[in-house]
Amino acid sequence: MAVSRMCVVFGLFVGLVMAVGTASSAKFEELFQPGWAADHHVREGDVLKLKLDYYSGAGFSSKSKYMFGKVTIQIKLVEGDSAGTVTAFYMSSEGPNHNEFDFEFLGNTTGEPYLVQTNVYVNGVGNREQRMNLWFDPTKDFHSYSLLWNQRQVVFLVDETPIRVHTNLEHRGIPFPKDQAMGVYSSIWNADDWATQGGRVKTDWTHAPFVASYRGFDINACECPVSVAATENAKRCMSTGAKRYWWDEPTVSELSLHQSHQLMWVRANHMIYDYCTDKARFPVTPAECVHHHH
Ligand SMILES: *[C@@H]1O[C@H](CO)[C@@H](O)[C@H](O)[C@H]1NC(C)=O
Repeated sequence: MAVSRMCVVFGLFVGLVMAVGTASSAKFEELFQPGWAADHHVREGDVLKLKLDYYSGAGFSSKSKYMFGKVTIQIKLVEGDSAGTVTAFYMSSEGPNHNEFDFEFLGNTTGEPYLVQTNVYVNGVGNREQRMNLWFDPTKDFHSYSLLWNQRQVVFLVDETPIRVHTNLEHRGIPFPKDQAMGVYSSIWNADDWATQGGRVKTDWTHAPFVASYRGFDINACECPVSVAATENAKRCMSTGAKRYWWDEPTVSELSLHQSHQLMWVRANHMIYDYCTDKARFPVTPAECVHHHH
């Protein structure tokens, strides 16, 4: 019974891959292009390095836009002194009412821990910052960072461990990002006015260039061609009836029990800041925080 159901789901999935061009690849060139400062990009085999110096940072962006699915990149953050620098990996749509899911890695002085700031913008409004430290040194090795997006939730994952979930609470009248195709971006820049210890530690340019390394580029998502109207793309990328995308399957559309426990562990042991509990900034608790269950 279980086996035959699996086969049906798998069969549909294969059909969809061919029908709508779900993209999955480990190759940078197929999926991405330099967004700015191509002269600050360095290729070394499978690894792409972005360099920040006094003159410029650097960034890359996906060639296509996507709705729903999963994007993963392995990143090795700036070694040694990274104070003042921010390396970001994010998805974003365009326009004044854009949606955005952000990982921002805030550098630090040598030996002090990196922080991971995440944020979610819905209809042009962000202010949903969370900050965590990590359970490993992200400058020593490559680790995978993923954004999983479906109609029920946006999940931020570090080495497949969920560190944040933004749940669809539309049934409570809270908007959820699901109508705009998003590009995938990464960049490194100088943010010493705020990034490290609240902006007190400035970038030490004698330690430049600051280098973030990338590999293992993977996008497994519903691609939205620019030639196709937004409403048509939204329809194509939605699971309806017999057309099921894997990211809308019950096992993916919400956290498993194991993942919920992982998230609780991360929040208990690694959370440094959560906008949901910042009474000084938000005297009235943001609506989605009231209904989120952790
Ligand atoms: C940098 O290190 C200091 C001291 O350990 C810590 O308080 C801070 O949270 C770290 N991260 C940033 C981004 O400031």
